[in-house]
Amino acid sequence: MDDDALLAEQVAYYRAGAAEYDRPYAEYEALQRLLAVVDELPIDGDVLELACGTGQWTALLAARAHSVTAVDAAAEVLALARARTASPAVQFVEADLFEWQPSRRYDTVFFAFWLSHVPPTRLPGFWRTVAAALAPGGRAVFIDDGPAAAAYEEVLTNQPIPTALRRLDDGSRYRIVKVFHDARTVTDDLTALGWSVRIRSLAGNFIGIAEPPAGSGR
Ligand SMILES: C[S@@+](CC[C@H](N)C(=O)[O-])C[C@H]1O[C@@H](n2cnc3c(N)ncnc32)[C@H](O)[C@@H]1O
Repeated sequence: MDDDALLAEQVAYYRAGAAEYDRPYAEYEALQRLLAVVDELPIDGDVLELACGTGQWTALLAARAHSVTAVDAAAEVLALARARTASPAVQFVEADLFEWQPSRRYDTVFFAFWLSHVPPTRLPGFWRTVAAALAPGGRAVFIDDGPAAAAYEEVLTNQPIPTALRRLDDGSRYRIVKVFHDARTVTDDLTALGWSVRIRSLAGNFIGIAEPPAGSGR
């Protein structure tokens, strides 16, 4: 399977599973605690949220921001995000993040549980897009699963791209990209690309704050 087909299946999974998406947020206290971390993060000004999903983070970002532009490819999750986030400061955009380019710059680019869905070969391009989306002095803030989360996934072996199998309540199965980054590797990769980065771990997740190389995309 090439990465375009896998990325299409990944969107199909989130579209079909939108109604099931929020379940872990309701069931796992650790995720509720993670959401509270937003208040400790340097989120301000105009915020771009990548892969906003059902908007679990969007209202929290909006409470700290001047505006939030929240992008996701799945219409069904965006509908839930819109219903959850009644703020005139939030604009939702339906777009494929592997195609979409922002038409302006932001003070903060935030993404939760998105980095792990970007195929490794696309990471340098992804970080270039994030850098180009940041206004001078802006930061990327990101949260994702660490390596321990692999124990809870059906990881498919011998795949050209790190892949996991997800199942929905109706028994349907979808392949998604799932890269279990560790904080050290993300730090080293971003540093090699000229970013300045601080990453900390929290209960199996990692939280990154990163500033792009001087002059990037500006
Ligand atoms: C793990 S969820 C994260 C959602 C939200 N950030 C959160 O933490 O709850 C991944 C999200 O990526 C979105 N997504 C998947 N492929 C995408 C693509 N190519 N472009 C934009 N969004 C995509 C899915 O629709 C889904 O909402």
